[in-house]
Amino acid sequence: MKKFFITANWKLNGNIKMISSFFERLKLYSSVFLEKNIVIIAPPTIYLERVYKNIKNMNIFLGAQNVDINLQGAFTGETSALMLQDIGVKYVIIGHSERRLLHHETNDLISKKFHLIKELNLIPILCIGETERDKKNGQTQKIIKAQLNCIFKKLGKSVFNNTIIAYEPIWAIGTGLSADPKDVQLIHQFIKNYIKKHDKINTNDILVQYGGSINHTNVKKFIEQPDINGLLIGNSSLSLQEFLKIIKIAHDII
Ligand code: 13P
Repeated sequence: MKKFFITANWKLNGNIKMISSFFERLKLYSSVFLEKNIVIIAPPTIYLERVYKNIKNMNIFLGAQNVDINLQGAFTGETSALMLQDIGVKYVIIGHSERRLLHHETNDLISKKFHLIKELNLIPILCIGETERDKKNGQTQKIIKAQLNCIFKKLGKSVFNNTIIAYEPIWAIGTGLSADPKDVQLIHQFIKNYIKKHDKINTNDILVQYGGSINHTNVKKFIEQPDINGLLIGNSSLSLQEFLKIIKIAHDII
């Protein structure tokens, strides 16, 4: 059966009260909606354990929004992949454009994180995507290639098995301007073909999510595209009602 990967990236949002009410209500729906979808919730680091306790008996996985490149030591304020693994995290988002832009993360740094995550048998959700300017200048493919090349350069071939790639055009994030699903389909195809050229992986095993202003009114056409294997959702994952609507639409289409 085809699986569809829906990741909630809560970013710097949520609090104890919101988490309690979110999962209290989600529990009532889990058996109906979550069997065909793989649902991953990525709360802020401080709430990871709290969320883990809530999802323990549900078919939902825990995701982290970031990780350090060191496993332990004198690195004040950081969280290591070993610690994430220790508390039940399975997926780790890396390379999000907010980290690339606001925290100056480079392709090189992101490839180090990718390497570490794989070493510990966690699953990276590698975010890639172009700015509005890149898009206007026809640079989308060039940017994506560079974002993927750094991974190949550091890790060699056969690295994209058991990995999720999230294509998030930066101009579509948090703007209400989602990309055109048909354009996204073509870019996902490009990503898969490019990876296939370098990696022995079977095309069907390359998983690419789309992220950027997804909501229940625009999601259907994205889910219908053959090479969109999931969604990385920001704002719409904070409201349980909205998030459930999206999950239900995916459940009905897949
Ligand atoms: P929005 O869904 O709020 O546009 O955010 C997308 C995103 O950045 C998910 O990682």
